[in-house]
Formats: sequence, structure tokens, C-alpha cells
Amino acid sequence: MGSSEIPLPPPRITMPVNFYGLSVYRQFYMQTICVFLVLTALIVVPTSAQQNSQQCVTTYNAQTDYFPAKIHVDNATLFAIQYFNNYKLVSNKMTNEIFALYQCGTPAPTNLPNGTKVFAVPVAKVATLQTSSNTYLEALGVGAKIVALSVEQDVSSPCLQKGLANNSIIQISSSNATFMAQTLAQMDVVFGSPSASTSNNTRAEWVEFYSTWFNLEDSGNKISASINDNYNCLRRAAANINGNKPIVSWVSYSAPSEYTNNTPSWDISTVNFKMQLTADAGAIFFAPNTTKFSTSKDFLAAIQNVDVIIDETYLAPTLNDVLSNFGITNATASTYRFVANQAIFREDGIQTVAGGRDWYESAVIFDDAVLADVIAAVWPGYPTTGYQRSWLRNVAKGETPKISTAANCTGSVSTPRTDPAFACSGNFAAKSGASSVQAFGGFVVTLMAVAAAVLMA
Ligand SMILES: *[C@@H]1O[C@H](CO)[C@@H](O)[C@H](O)[C@H]1NC(C)=O
Ligand SMILES: *[C@@H]1O[C@H](CO)[C@@H](O)[C@H](O)[C@H]1NC(C)=O
Ligand SMILES: *[C@@H]1O[C@H](CO)[C@@H](O)[C@H](O)[C@H]1NC(C)=O
Ligand SMILES: *[C@@H]1O[C@H](CO)[C@@H](O)[C@H](O)[C@H]1NC(C)=O
Ligand SMILES: *[C@@H]1O[C@H](CO)[C@@H](O)[C@H](O)[C@H]1NC(C)=O
Ligand SMILES: *[C@@H]1O[C@H](CO)[C@@H](O)[C@H](O)[C@H]1NC(C)=O
Ligand SMILES: *[C@@H]1O[C@H](CO)[C@@H](O)[C@H](O)[C@H]1NC(C)=O
Ligand SMILES: *[C@@H]1O[C@H](CO)[C@@H](O)[C@H](O)[C@H]1NC(C)=O
Repeated sequence: MGSSEIPLPPPRITMPVNFYGLSVYRQFYMQTICVFLVLTALIVVPTSAQQNSQQCVTTYNAQTDYFPAKIHVDNATLFAIQYFNNYKLVSNKMTNEIFALYQCGTPAPTNLPNGTKVFAVPVAKVATLQTSSNTYLEALGVGAKIVALSVEQDVSSPCLQKGLANNSIIQISSSNATFMAQTLAQMDVVFGSPSASTSNNTRAEWVEFYSTWFNLEDSGNKISASINDNYNCLRRAAANINGNKPIVSWVSYSAPSEYTNNTPSWDISTVNFKMQLTADAGAIFFAPNTTKFSTSKDFLAAIQNVDVIIDETYLAPTLNDVLSNFGITNATASTYRFVANQAIFREDGIQTVAGGRDWYESAVIFDDAVLADVIAAVWPGYPTTGYQRSWLRNVAKGETPKISTAANCTGSVSTPRTDPAFACSGNFAAKSGASSVQAFGGFVVTLMAVAAAVLMA
């Protein structure tokens, strides 16, 4: 056999490139010869209501502006977009990577900066390796262009689950690297693997980045602006809620295991975007000087006066699990304010059957919906009395997760996924009767916690 055996071709995936925690891989890399290039972008005033073509050009005219709809990047400091007549340069400022996306049917641009990756757009066949990409694409209405999905991270989207179940979407997994490489080689673009951690709250703005690959700048701008406006409205309304600001801590427990040297640890998160969400919800972010603990006793001493806990521990389905992870006994439970307040939330309010969390999928783009959930967690009765949290599940009140399955796909995968956020229109209606803060009990703000929070702000 030996000599007749045909060796497998090497994987054709080239150049993983990173942008905000994701990577784009591409086959058929078009080599570009580089010279010094001054990026003289045509900065054109954005024209609203114009749309870029979904068709390939058949008669090329160098004088035509093929991208009348342009992205205007607001706060996204991590990427930039420059428009030329038949191509756009999308650059990741974090990694200094540049993509040249040219209108299909027009000449591929030359004289590009070194290392620029060149693609024809709009792309038609896409694979995603990370679930958060899925919702950006579904929000743009291009969910049907996802033809392969990594099933490593459990997919929550009902319509994509349906596609996986009926085999219209190819399941890829790194456990079969050969098959994965073969599949990805057939894609126009692969939105890829996680690398950097999320930092600032400009997550929604990445929809603009995704939109450039599909010539959907008009939709990208609208979605981003709508999320941003609603977020800012919610933030202002939350700032006007009357009452003492509750102290909120985002914590997690790691059980002893081979990965943790067989020692347990308890962590208080000080990640920037959680800090921002907490402050924007009108609460106080708990950021003590010490954030990592090797004994339950020290951890519990630190969080004794925290009003609201957001428990990010991977596994803890019930209140008893949370208390047991923390090392809180039934006898002492009521001495902890978050226990007495019944304010212990987890991010697993929407799950797959296998326990995959939608928090890492649809929550990533819809910042405004996440803020509304945090507001509802820290100010019961807001933004409205009937508000149903999406992701934050109050385990102290015995709330159960909502399960997302293919049966929840009631529309079409091509129907743009809508923002589930509470639509803010100004200040929240004042709650009648007892103020929400009384629900939190006596409320003695510890000066230490406030000082720490201010220091970190
Ligand atoms: C681009 O790369 C080539 C070859 O690697 C190198 O000679 C050239 O100096 C580079 N140009 C720039 C602008 O970095
Ligand atoms: C982000 O941009 C929006 C709209 O331009 C603006 O209202 C908001 O204040 C900005 N946020 C930050 C943190 O710069
Ligand atoms: C399979 O699932 C996809 C994605 O949700 C859907 O568009 C398609 O209509 C489904 N096909 C059948 C035969 O149900
Ligand atoms: C991996 O994928 C290849 C190509 O589809 C297939 O021939 C092979 O049987 C797969 N291996 C396993 C272990 O599933
Ligand atoms: C995130 O925001 C902080 C200030 O809140 C700023 O110092 C930092 O540079 C920002 N990071 C990024 C990647 O934009
Ligand atoms: C936290 O650290 C700062 C700076 O090191 C220090 O000034 C402050 O007193 C510390 N706070 C507590 C509560 O230990
Ligand atoms: C605490 O009480 C609950 C019932 O209220 C019980 O299920 C649980 O086992 C108790 N935990 C301990 C450690 O005794
Ligand atoms: C999916 O549909 C079922 C049945 O209507 C419902 O119980 C469940 O909560 C839905 N899941 C989500 C995530 O909304």
C-alpha cells in the first residue's frame, strides 16, 4: 500500500488573523505586492438610506463609488474602515491587521500595505468557530450564509440548531482536524476562534465590522446606532432611579482539580465591561484590593456586605450549589446580605439542552438588553414591573433556565434577529409604594467598598 497512498494535502487555511477576540481565516490568499502606501482614503460624508450592492459588478467603471453606504465608526477604537471606489480597507488597530474587501466583479486592489488580506465581497459562504459571531450575522439577516458551524461551543440560536439538525449546516469540530480543514477551505471567510478577552463595552459596534463583509453597511450602522441609543437611554434612566445604590459583585468559584493544583479558589471579577455595566445600571461595582482568595473564609469576609451577587461559576444550578461552593452554611446564610436579599443571579437564564449558555452568544451583541437585565437585577421592579430578565437568572428565588432548542425557531434563519432589549423611552415609571431599595434590607454602605469602587472607576 505505502506507495499508492495519496498523502493528504496540507491544510489550506492560512493566516489566522485576530480582531477583538476572533480570528478570520481565509483560503486562497491572494498575494499582494507591497510598496509604501499612503492611505489616502476618500473620506466621504456618510449618506443614509443608501445600500451597497449584493450583486457582482459586470461592467466595471473606475469612477463609480461602489460603496455608497459607509460605516461611520463611533466609539469602536479597535477597528477602522476606509473607503475607496471599489474596495474598503478594514483594519484592526489592535493587531495592525488589514483586510481589503473589494466589490466582486471589479479588479482586486494592488499596492496595498504589507500583509493585507484580500477578499471579494459580498461573501456568500461563511463558517463560524465562535458562537458570538452567530448572532451578529443573524442580526444582519445573513444567518443563511452560515454554512458550517463549530459545535465545540454549544450553539444556542434556535434556527441555527434547526439547520444543524436538518443537515443544512455542516458541523465542524477540531476533534477531526482533517474534516475541519477541508470544510473551512470551501468557505469565503471563517469567523474564528477566541483569543483576546472582551474588554470595553463597544461589543455592539462590531456589527459594523461584520456588515462590511456582506455589503450591509446600512444595516450595520442602523443596528449599532439603535443598540447604542437604547443603551444610553437605559443608562440615563437607571441613573435617575431613587434609592441607595446597591453594591454588586461578580464572582466565581473554581473547584480543586488537576488544572488548579488541586486547590480551590474564589475570585471577584474586575473586568472592565462588568464594571461599566454595573455603574451604568446605577449600582456600585465591588472592586476590593484583593480579588483572589484561597479560602472560603477570606472570600466570605470580603463579600459579607455585598447586596447583589452575580455568580459566574460554571456549574451551580441551584441556590444550594451556590451556597455550598461559597462555603456558606445554612446556619449562617442569612447573615449575608445577598442571601437575605434573595439577590443571587447567574448568567445561565437561557441555555441549550446540554447547558451551553446563550450569554456567550446573543448577549454579546445586544449590550442594551444585557444592561436592562442588570438594571432589573439590582433594582427589582425596573425597568418595568413586569420585566422578564433574559440571561440573569435569580437562583435565590428558584428561577429555572429557559431552554433554547430548534423548536424555538419560529421564523426563518434569514429573518434578521431582533434585539430583545426593553425599549427605553425616557425615565422609568417611578415605583409606587415601598422603594425598591427596601427590598435590599437595611443598607449600610461600607466605606471601604465605596472607596474601592471609586478608586477603580
Ligand atoms: C513589505 O515586505 C517586503 C518583503 O517582506 C519588504 O521588503 C518591504 O520593506 C515591506 N514594506 C513595508 C512598507 O513594510
Ligand atoms: C459612544 O458614541 C455615542 C454616539 O456617538 C456617544 O453617545 C457615547 O457617549 C459614546 N460613548 C463613549 C464611551 O465614548
Ligand atoms: C433546515 O434548517 C434551516 C435553518 O434553520 C432552514 O432554513 C431550512 O428551511 C430547514 N430545512 C428543512 C427541510 O426544514
Ligand atoms: C474525519 O473526516 C474525514 C473526512 O471527512 C473522514 O474521512 C474521517 O473518517 C473522519 N475521522 C473521524 C475519526 O471521524
Ligand atoms: C477601555 O477603556 C479604558 C477606560 O475605561 C481605556 O483606558 C482602555 O484603553 C480601553 N481599552 C480599549 C481596548 O479600548
Ligand atoms: C487599597 O489599595 C490602595 C492603594 O494601594 C490603598 O490606598 C487602600 O488603602 C487600599 N484599601 C484597602 C481597603 O485596603
Ligand atoms: C440547607 O437547607 C436546604 C433546605 O432548606 C437543604 O436542602 C440543604 O441540604 C441544607 N444544606 C446543608 C449544608 O445542610
Ligand atoms: C422555547 O420554547 C419553549 C416552549 O414554548 C419554552 O418553554 C422555552 O422557554 C423557549 N425557550 C426560550 C429560550 O425562549
